Amino acid sequence: MIDLHCHLLPAIDDGPLDIEASLQMAQAALYEGLHTVVVTPHVDLKYGIQGEQIAEGVAALCAALEREQIPLTVHSGAEIALTRLPGMDDSQLRSLALALSSYLLIESPYSPAGALLEEAVFDLQVRGFRPLLAHPERCPEFQADVERLRRLVEGGVACSMSAGSVVGQFGRTVKRFASQLLQEQLVHNLSSDAHDVAKRGPSLRAAFRAENSPLTDVALQRWLTISVPAAVLADEPLPPRPPVPARSRRWGFMGRA
Ligand SMILES: [Fe+2]
Repeated sequence: MIDLHCHLLPAIDDGPLDIEASLQMAQAALYEGLHTVVVTPHVDLKYGIQGEQIAEGVAALCAALEREQIPLTVHSGAEIALTRLPGMDDSQLRSLALALSSYLLIESPYSPAGALLEEAVFDLQVRGFRPLLAHPERCPEFQADVERLRRLVEGGVACSMSAGSVVGQFGRTVKRFASQLLQEQLVHNLSSDAHDVAKRGPSLRAAFRAENSPLTDVALQRWLTISVPAAVLADEPLPPRPPVPARSRRWGFMGRA
């Protein structure tokens, strides 16, 4: 599996504090069945990170992984806040793209963004970038108006859901909305959004194992965690969604009685 959203770089945002902690996360990611991770530090007004810092961090992390013989492939990326987008030129954006593709991971806003969200996304598309919205299930504006998200998806925006949302890590409202978005086929990718090993670890399988998980269809699991992220890394259009499996025959035989 491939993780498109992971705070794996040390001492750059609210992810691991040092390289040792990063390496522990890398080991955990391998244990959880991930072979490739895109590092996505917060590019927002709080941390003020620039693309060059991410490139340097990735080079140092790759060297440490090789030294420790940890066979995890790492690509550069970023989780870009709407507040950092104004004034960014194309070359700045390209340095923040997922694996230097045309896909940009855009953080869904936690506070009201109004039409700024749609305007920013449309501007990116006009400039040739492909926005991938990070955890829309945690965005209060989408929770209040799912049609807004649907219009964005119909306009070509893809959505990356956090595995923790499916598990219930962010509360019942988010968990319920995550299930709804999956059911309504508004989700294109599942990522870890990992920040550490213990509390927000690099696991996607946790979402498959969760009680009453909406993610039990293996074809969908593979599409979300293998096929779609592979297309992103290759800078290709997303592959078609697998068909929804027929309802369980058992339900039909047993009925509700
Ligand atoms: Fe994140």
